Amino acid sequence: MLEMKQIIRTLEGVTDLPTLPTVYSKVSFLVNDSRTTAAQVTKVIETDQAITSKILRLVNSSFFGFSRRISSIHQAVILLGFNTIRNTVLSVSAFKMFGTGSNGMFDLKNFWKHSIATGMLSKILGQYLEIDMDEEAFTAGILHDIGKLVLNKYFPVEFEKALKKTQQEKLVLFDAERQVIGVSHAKIGEYLVDRWNLPYGLVETIALHHTPGVLRSSPKLVSLVHVGNIFAREMQLGFNGDFRIPEIDPFVYEELETTEDELNGYYMRMKEEIDKNMEIFNILI
Ligand SMILES: [Fe+2]
Ligand SMILES: [Fe+2]
Repeated sequence: MLEMKQIIRTLEGVTDLPTLPTVYSKVSFLVNDSRTTAAQVTKVIETDQAITSKILRLVNSSFFGFSRRISSIHQAVILLGFNTIRNTVLSVSAFKMFGTGSNGMFDLKNFWKHSIATGMLSKILGQYLEIDMDEEAFTAGILHDIGKLVLNKYFPVEFEKALKKTQQEKLVLFDAERQVIGVSHAKIGEYLVDRWNLPYGLVETIALHHTPGVLRSSPKLVSLVHVGNIFAREMQLGFNGDFRIPEIDPFVYEELETTEDELNGYYMRMKEEIDKNMEIFNILI
């Protein structure tokens, strides 16, 4: 069993710990300054062609549902606003940091599929419930399990043991990790994104997506992603290592001002929306 202290010590010694894409850091720096103009943000994004073309494909997809075509990054920046464009840069570039290949027991392509599905479902649910956080929920959903990639890369022996236990005993990986490794992917993900200085709502969602009842400052965002994650598992979109589908923490009903019946009622409609928008997976991965 490892302790968080030990894990932090190991990760601090790791020289190739993934860092945020440069474009994200630059955009983030700019949007924190009230004097920044849309033209400046545009210029930074356009230095990266891959990110530029992914953002344009994403915002023009039917999933994003803008009524007219967005033909330039400048237009996207103005239409989406600074915070959303910053999150969108993160959403389209998260995959670069750990890659999308396959690694032993853990298939990264399926992992990202689970993550994108979680992002999409969290966003759709936010729209249904009229919670004005759906763009943030999309990004938070994409990143929610990032701690698993840290475990997979830097603690492969321990992580494989947890994966095996999950499979043999039909557990949720979150529980197996705590039993076998001593620390969960939620805690490790929190450490990583905290180091990256991501917005606090994202850090908290990554930390608490399995335990939304814990005291927190972004309860709605945490709750959306908590449900999005479980629905993504139930719909069997991608794979995140779980061999049991976690249960919804009743705490979220109060937070999202909804009921179990209402959420179940949304489930089929949400599945249909995902089926109609499968192109998102191809755009992002
Ligand atoms: Fe998770
Ligand atoms: Fe997950």
